[in-house]
Amino acid sequence: MSAEQTTHLTLRRPDDWHLHLRDGEMLKGVLPDTSRHFARAIIMPNLVPPVVTTEDAAAYRARILAVLPKEHRFTPLMTLYLTEQTQAADVAAGRASGLITAVKLYPAGATTNSHGGVRDLDKVMPVLEKIAEIGLPLCVHGEVTTPEVDIFDREAVFIDTVLDPLRRRLPELKVTMEHVTTQDGVEYIRAADRNLAGSITTHHLIINRNALLVGGIRPHYYCLPVAKREVHRLALRAAATSGDPRFFLGTDSAPHVDPLKECGCGCAGIYTSINTMSCLAHVFEQENALDRLEAFTSLNGPAWYGLPANEERITLHRREAPLAFPAKIETGAGPVTVFDPMFPLHWDVVDA
Ligand code: DOR
Ligand code: ZN
Repeated sequence: MSAEQTTHLTLRRPDDWHLHLRDGEMLKGVLPDTSRHFARAIIMPNLVPPVVTTEDAAAYRARILAVLPKEHRFTPLMTLYLTEQTQAADVAAGRASGLITAVKLYPAGATTNSHGGVRDLDKVMPVLEKIAEIGLPLCVHGEVTTPEVDIFDREAVFIDTVLDPLRRRLPELKVTMEHVTTQDGVEYIRAADRNLAGSITTHHLIINRNALLVGGIRPHYYCLPVAKREVHRLALRAAATSGDPRFFLGTDSAPHVDPLKECGCGCAGIYTSINTMSCLAHVFEQENALDRLEAFTSLNGPAWYGLPANEERITLHRREAPLAFPAKIETGAGPVTVFDPMFPLHWDVVDA
């Protein structure tokens, strides 16, 4: 990275290591917001029905590429949704063909469209053994779903009762702890000597749980894992801006149309694709870490996934006047509210 002054930043083109693109009209509406700035993204498989087989992933990839704007260069990195029926041979074939970048473990019931996820880890051990053997990363939604566990404790309990035992049982398994939201998660990753890394979202660097609950209930700040206390947000900021290669960006940008957010039982998900780079530059500037932004957005992720960093660059410019992002984007599926960081944004991507 080169920072000619503090008003211009040139970075290798970033990648998003955790993204929800959906399908159909929503896919068409949201994809350009990612492909405008990002070279690659790991595409989450929690469609309805989920992307379970290599054949499903190939078809989904083709649907994504079919609606990619002609002038954008973007590579979707496909994942498989792990179920208790997943065949180890299919995963191995998907990896060997180059189509599959990771397998996603959703504990059943943990989040949007996760009812087909894993209830009993023992049932997927043969597949996990194969995944470990072929060196394919396992992306983990790290929350327990046991009703007795408080929702704010789900991640910490998952580490102790599921993730750590799994990693001891299969030390060769390469695990990405996705969207880490707690100090416990950060410390657990830091303490590991190998085969563990974590993605961090844009929004968890900016909001704590007050954003969701103070002064009225604000559904556009509701996501899973839910935002935690301030101490956790500060731990995430320290990890993201540290340059530690085990932490990288996974936006978890997760669009839902407004009627599905603004209702009696609103969906979890925050839409950040359109302003993520501006938000991140702001956060890294606040932390005096603009020189480490490139590690977080463009270097650490590829190194973990065994891919080359992008050769192309993007340039950000700090403007005096605040930028005007739309409050909502219109998609063929309906309006989607854009993440409001609650501070003015000044960093603009001027050349991508
Ligand atoms: O907030 C979230 N939204 N968290 C997830 O884990 C899933 C995602 C979605 O698919 O909407
Ligand atoms: Zn997600």
